[in-house]
Amino acid sequence: MVRRGLVAVGCTAGASLVPRMGDSLAPARVVPLLTGAFGRPYLYALECASTQRALDPSLPEGAVAVCEVQTAGRGRLGRTWDAAARSSILCSILLRPPRERRPAELSLVGGLAVAEVVERASGLPAQIKWPNDVLLRGQKVAGVLAEASSEAVVLGIGINVNQPADKLPASTRLPAVSLLALDARQRNRAALLADLLGCLERDYRIWRDNGLGPLHARLEARDLLRGREVTLEGERGVGVGIDPRGRFEIAIAGEHRFVESGEVSLEP
Ligand code: BTN
Repeated sequence: MVRRGLVAVGCTAGASLVPRMGDSLAPARVVPLLTGAFGRPYLYALECASTQRALDPSLPEGAVAVCEVQTAGRGRLGRTWDAAARSSILCSILLRPPRERRPAELSLVGGLAVAEVVERASGLPAQIKWPNDVLLRGQKVAGVLAEASSEAVVLGIGINVNQPADKLPASTRLPAVSLLALDARQRNRAALLADLLGCLERDYRIWRDNGLGPLHARLEARDLLRGREVTLEGERGVGVGIDPRGRFEIAIAGEHRFVESGEVSLEP
C-alpha cells in the first residue's frame, strides 16, 4: 500500500535481497536531479514485488515508483523481469492519458525515451524492436510495459545498467545485455533515471497533445524490424515498419497486415 509522502513502497519485512554496497536510487540521490514534474512524488523501496503494483491510481500523474530489487518483476505477455539488486533501473510511472489516445502506444513513447537515454550513456545507436524492446548491438538492454486500468496507465521500464554479463538472464527470447557488459563502465543510475524521466515527460506530453505523428520519424529511424525478414505467428514476411498509429506493418506474400499487439520475431 502506498501513501503519499512516504518513501517506502510495498517494502517486505524480514531478510532483504538488497546488499548494502553499490550506488543507490534513494530519493536523496534522484530527486535533486529531476528537472520536471515526473518523479513527484518519488516513491522508493529497497525491495518490492513489482513497481507496477506500487502506485495508487489516486496519485498525481507523473508519480514514480522505484525499487532496488523486485521479487515478482513483470514482463510483457506474462513473462517475468529479473535483475540483480542495485544493478539496474526498475521504475513505473503513473499516467492519465486522454481517452482519445491508445494506451498501447505508450510502449513506443517509453521506448523512444529509453533509446535516447541508453544511446547517450553508451555512445551506441539504440534501436526499438516493436513494440517494447530497446536494443544495443542487437541485444536487449531495456523493456517497457504499459498496463492500463480504468483509472490510469502504469508505464514500467526496466533498464539493464550495471549487471556483469554473468548476472544477466540467460534464457531470454532476445539475448540480454547491460551497459556495463558492453563497455565495462559502471554508470551512475540516479543520473540515468533523472535523464529518463525528463525525456519521457517531454515525449509523453508531445504524444498526449498530438498523438504519435510528431514522434513517428524518430520511431522509424530506430525501427529494428523495418526491411527485415520477420515471423508473425509462424508466417514469414518482411517488416514494412511502425505505422503512424503505432501498429506494425508486415508484408506477407504480397499482402499487407497491420499488427496491433503481439509478437513479431526477427528471422535469424
Ligand atoms: C518486457 O520487456 O517484457 C517489459 C519489461 C518491463 C520491466 C519493468 S521493471 C520495472 C517495472 N516493474 C515490473 O514489474 N516490470 C516493469
